Amino acid sequence: MPSVLGRLRSVVGDEHVLTDPDLCAPYETDWTGRFHGHTHSVVRPATTAEVSEVLRICAAHGIPVVPQGGNTGLVGGSVPRGGELVLSLRRLDEIGPVDADHGEVVVGAGATLAAVRDAAVPAGWDVGVDLAARDSATIGGMVATNAGGSQLIRYGAMSRQVIGLEAVRADGTVIGRIPALRKDNVGYHWSGVLAGSEGTLAVITRVHLALVPLMTDRAVALVGVDDVETALRLVGRLRRSLPSLLSVEACFAEGVDLVCDHTGMPWPLETRTPVLLTIECGTSRAASSGDEAVDGLLEVLGEADEVRASAVATDEAGRARLWAYRDRHTETVSTLGVPHKLDVTIPFDALAAFHDEVVERVHAIAPDARVVQYGHLADGNIHVNILGPDPDDDAVDEAVLRLVVEVGGSISAEHGIGIAKRDSLALARSAGDIAAMRDLKHGLDPTVLLNPGVIFSTATYRT
Ligand code: FAD
Ligand code: MLT
Ligand code: ZN
Repeated sequence: MPSVLGRLRSVVGDEHVLTDPDLCAPYETDWTGRFHGHTHSVVRPATTAEVSEVLRICAAHGIPVVPQGGNTGLVGGSVPRGGELVLSLRRLDEIGPVDADHGEVVVGAGATLAAVRDAAVPAGWDVGVDLAARDSATIGGMVATNAGGSQLIRYGAMSRQVIGLEAVRADGTVIGRIPALRKDNVGYHWSGVLAGSEGTLAVITRVHLALVPLMTDRAVALVGVDDVETALRLVGRLRRSLPSLLSVEACFAEGVDLVCDHTGMPWPLETRTPVLLTIECGTSRAASSGDEAVDGLLEVLGEADEVRASAVATDEAGRARLWAYRDRHTETVSTLGVPHKLDVTIPFDALAAFHDEVVERVHAIAPDARVVQYGHLADGNIHVNILGPDPDDDAVDEAVLRLVVEVGGSISAEHGIGIAKRDSLALARSAGDIAAMRDLKHGLDPTVLLNPGVIFSTATYRT
């Protein structure tokens, strides 16, 4: 190992090979606190060439590697399980000039979502995916997890924002093309292959992003309704009548109480309702001549007899205040313990029943567990957070995922499989699917050096 460390230091510089346990510690535990492992070194390259050289050295010595971006992932895929080297991509944070005519920018994999937005906004553009971890989540990590976020109904997931990318295979070979072209059907699309690959197929180093027009008129409404079925009816009405619709998110009274306790914010509406929807509309000035977003939203809400109470804001501070009731659920839950986070999609016609049934299934195993639900309602994506059971006890996770499969849902809507759900992969994918995924993994990384144990448990690897 000492000679390997020396070679790594000569590639990235002494100060970018961390071996001191105190310096390595932040890279060893995930955002939730549920997943952690030990690493002998954290290596922080700054360029594609350095990533390639580091991987060549690791491959030559059979050293497994965990790629890490902002370490905001929620399924344990960004931290070592034991003995892997952590390859931090955060120094690849260059942001190229924004093409203001065509809405494109090339960014390093380590650029944060917030930094890319800050670069895009003055040029009249924005990133189509938004999420509350925007200050830390990196573009590379967002592609590697195919992040969803709150604007998916309008712009799709992260894979839809990628024109092309550059990545490095486990043996150090650079693949992909930067700058990329909007139409380019020369063989496989690496962006499609690597989106959602969770660091198991290649290390993403640069991404050519398609931006979306900056919204100049935005309106946010927080709306109280009686139950999930009513909420889903309202979602349908909003989608049919508002082309400017960006988001429809849901949270529930018990969760909002917790957020209020944690943040000191008051209950947001004049009436207490069981379900609260955060609805956002936006139009760009190029496409409208005034307050189209506000007017449209107010008109639809005014006519909707589902609405029991509402608050609307159009100014930036007011919008942020209303969003906080939904966005601050994640941090609030984490102040109450180490959560079991189950991010699932449920078919719309099963969602209302699932919302109640999931609590019963959890309580059948862990009667004292607290279940906090919220999510991206317009996508059928619910985040089921369970507090109480020991972090290492998977019984509630299994019970929830079994219910999800029973009702025809997906065991991972947007966070990925990581190590958190790898043992349930066979519940959700056919044997043929899993074999094809393993073949892809082995084709690109034959000696299983990139993120071993993520998506597939290592026991299922072919040797
Ligand atoms: P990391 O956590 O560092 O890594 C995640 C995975 O990607 C790991 O498997 C890692 O090995 C791999 N990886 C990272 N960088 C690279 C790279 N350059 N090349 C190859 N593999 C790489 N997710 C959503 O989808 N929607 C949300 O709304 C959402 N909201 C969130 C809110 C909060 C408060 C938090 C803490 C998290 C949220 N997340 C959400 C989860 C998380 O932010 C996303 O998964 C994000 O895409 C992870 O980016 P990251 O840079 O932090 O990646
Ligand atoms: C969210 O939508 O808030 C995120 O996906 C994070 C979480 O599940 O807590
Ligand atoms: Zn989410």
